[in-house]
Amino acid sequence: MSEKKKTPKSESAALRADIREHDRRYYELEAPTISDAEYDALQARLKSLEQAHPELRSPDSPTERVGGGVSSSFSPVKHARPMLSLDNTYNEEEIRAWNDRVLKNLPAGERPSFILEQKLDGLSCALTYENGRFVRAATRGDGETGEDVTENARFVGGVPERLKAAGREVPQSLEIRGEIVLFFDDFQKINAEEERAGRPPFVNPRNCASGSLRQKDPQVTKRRRLKFFAHSYGDWRPEHGFSSHSKFLARCRSLGFRVEPFLMASSIEDILSRYHKFRDGGAAKLPYAVDGLVVKVDSFAQQRRLGFTAKSPRWAVAFKYPAQQATTIVREIECSVGRTGTITPVAKLEPVFCAGVTISSVTLHNFEEIERLGIQIGDRVLIERAGEVIPKVIRVVEKAKKVSVIVPPSKCPDCGSPVVKEEGLVAYRCDNPSCPAQLRRTLEHFASRPAMDIVGLGDSAVDQLVGKKLVKDVADIYGLKKEQLLDLELFADKKADNLLAQIEASKSKTLDRAIFALGIRHVGEKTAETVAERMDLDALLNSSVEDLQALPDIGPIVAKSLHAFFSSLIGKDLIARLRKAGLKMPKPARMIAAGAPFAGMTFVFTGELKKSTREEAEELVKSLGGKASSSVSAKTAYVVAGETAGSKLKKALALGVKVLTEDEFLDIINRKG
Ligand code: IVH
Repeated sequence: MSEKKKTPKSESAALRADIREHDRRYYELEAPTISDAEYDALQARLKSLEQAHPELRSPDSPTERVGGGVSSSFSPVKHARPMLSLDNTYNEEEIRAWNDRVLKNLPAGERPSFILEQKLDGLSCALTYENGRFVRAATRGDGETGEDVTENARFVGGVPERLKAAGREVPQSLEIRGEIVLFFDDFQKINAEEERAGRPPFVNPRNCASGSLRQKDPQVTKRRRLKFFAHSYGDWRPEHGFSSHSKFLARCRSLGFRVEPFLMASSIEDILSRYHKFRDGGAAKLPYAVDGLVVKVDSFAQQRRLGFTAKSPRWAVAFKYPAQQATTIVREIECSVGRTGTITPVAKLEPVFCAGVTISSVTLHNFEEIERLGIQIGDRVLIERAGEVIPKVIRVVEKAKKVSVIVPPSKCPDCGSPVVKEEGLVAYRCDNPSCPAQLRRTLEHFASRPAMDIVGLGDSAVDQLVGKKLVKDVADIYGLKKEQLLDLELFADKKADNLLAQIEASKSKTLDRAIFALGIRHVGEKTAETVAERMDLDALLNSSVEDLQALPDIGPIVAKSLHAFFSSLIGKDLIARLRKAGLKMPKPARMIAAGAPFAGMTFVFTGELKKSTREEAEELVKSLGGKASSSVSAKTAYVVAGETAGSKLKKALALGVKVLTEDEFLDIINRKG
C-alpha cells in the first residue's frame, strides 16, 4: 500500500481487487501465486471489515461468493428462450443434404459462409449478466426450465464475475450460453481421488462435470476445476453489436469468456476437408472430449431466413465423428420384452470403456443376428459406439473354449406365456397382450425424457405400479393418489409429492411429445414433431392415411401406423381419457428466431407478391417474432403492398400506417441481422 492513509473503504477495495486477481489466476490462468491459506486469510480480513462496516458490503464482493453452504437445493429457472439441441449428421451424404437444404432456403445464388466449432462433450449452461455483472447460471434442464446453479458456476473457470469492457460499453443485459467441460487430466485426478476414498469412479468426464456442477456444496465444484466455453446466446439485440456468429464469438472473447478456436468454411467441400482433418487426428489431440464438429451458418440475416424447427435451428448442424471400438467378453445372454412384446436378446458384457462411457450390455436385436455373428457365451467380441448412439457388436474376435448354443426362449421370460414367431418375421414375441413387461416398457417410454418427461417415474416406480396393478395403461398415471404412492417401497412423503408434481406438470407438454410418448409403431421423435407442427389433436383424430402421407417426410408405412392408432377405438378412448385427465396437448409453439426484432409488431400483406408466397412472407415475419394479420388497423406496424393492392392499401394510407413495397420489406428483413 502507498503512504496514503488506509481507510476501511480503501483497504476493502484493495482486498477485493487482490482476491479477484487471485481468483483469476486460480480459475482462468490455472496458475495460483499464493497458497490456499494465504487466500483464506485475505478473505477473512475482508469479511471482518465488511462486518464492522456494513456500508462496505456489496452483493458482488468475493465474500458473498464463498462456501458456507450458500446453495442448498436448486430452484427452477425458466429460460427466456428455450435451450435447443442440434440435429446430427454422421456422414458425407447427410451433411451434403443439410447443405443443400440451407442453399435451397436462401435466395438463389446466395452463398453462406460457415463457421466450424468443435462439439464439446460437456453440459450446457446459460449465464446471465446484468450491467456487466454475473447474476445467474442455469443448466439446460428440459430445454424450457433448468436448474439454478449460480453459486456453483462462480467456481467454474471462464465464468467471469464481471464482463470486461475492453473500451466499449458492456451490454445492459446479456445471456451467454455455452458448455461446461472437464479436461481429461483433471478427470483422471478426480477419479484417482475417488478411488482412494473408496468411491466408485465417474464413467466419463461429462458425467463427472455434471455431477460436479450440480453439487449442494459449491466448494466441491470449486475443487473439480470445471471450465466454461461460450458457444451461443440466449437473447440478441442490435445493441449487442454483432451481426454474425464469428463476430459474436470475438465479442465473447473480449468480454472475458473462453471461446474454442473456430474455423471458417465457404463451401461444403471446405467443410468436408476440415472435418476429415479433425476426424483423422486433430480432435484426439484436444485436452477435452469432443464428439463432432458443429457447422453453423455465420450470418445472422441468413440464420433468420433459415429459422428453427421445434427442437433445433435449421442453420446449424452437428457433424459427428465416427464410432470408437473396443473388445470384451460376452458373459451371458438375457432376453428382454419390449413394448410390443418383441423379445430381444441382450448380451451382458465384461464392462469396457469405449468412446467416453463404460459399456456392460449391448442389444443383439434378434436371434438371427446371434446366428449371423456366430456369438456364444464366453466369446470375445468387437463392439463399437458412436456418440450417443447405442453400442453394437461388430464381430466375434476370439471364440470361447467351451461350446454353448443360444436358443430362443419358448416362454416369455416375464409372464411365462408362449412365445410366437410370426411368418416371415424374424422377431419372437410374447403373445400375451396384458404381459406386465410390455406394460412396463410402455409406461417407461411414456415417462421418458424426450416423451412426457415425468422425472421419478423410472424403472423401479413403474415395476411397483404395474406389480400392484395400480396402472393398466398410460392414462391411469393421471389418476394416481398420494396414498397409493406412499404404499410403494422407498416412497416417502417428499418423493410422492415430487412425482405427483411431475405428473401434473406433464399435462402441459406439447402434442409432439404426446404423440411420441404414445409409442405408436414407426413413430419417432422427428415424425411426431412433423405431425404436431402441422395438425392439432382433433385434426389428427380425424385424419385419413392420405392426409398424413401428404406431410413432409411421412411415408405410407408411418402414415398407416399413425392412422391405425388414431382411428382405432382403443386409441380414441385413450386420447379421450388423457384429455379428461387434463392433458391439453397443444401444438408446439413455433420457435422464434434470434432476438425477435419484430416482437409486438403486426404486418399485413396485400396484393400479389412476386418473390415469395404470402405464406412464406408471413413465416419470415413470425420467425422474427412478429405477427401477420389480414386486417389493417392503426396498430398495424407495416402494410406490405404487392401489385394489385387495393382497399387495404387505401386504408393504410388513410390511417397513416407505413407502407412498404416487397423489396423494401425484404431489405428490412435482411438488415435485421
Ligand atoms: S450451438 C441450438 N455449439 O450440443 C443449439 N452447441 O445438441 C445451439 N454443444 O446442448 C448450440 N458444443 O450445449 C453449440 N460448439 C457448440 C457446441 C454445442 C457442444 C452442445 C450444446 C447443445 C448440444 C446440442
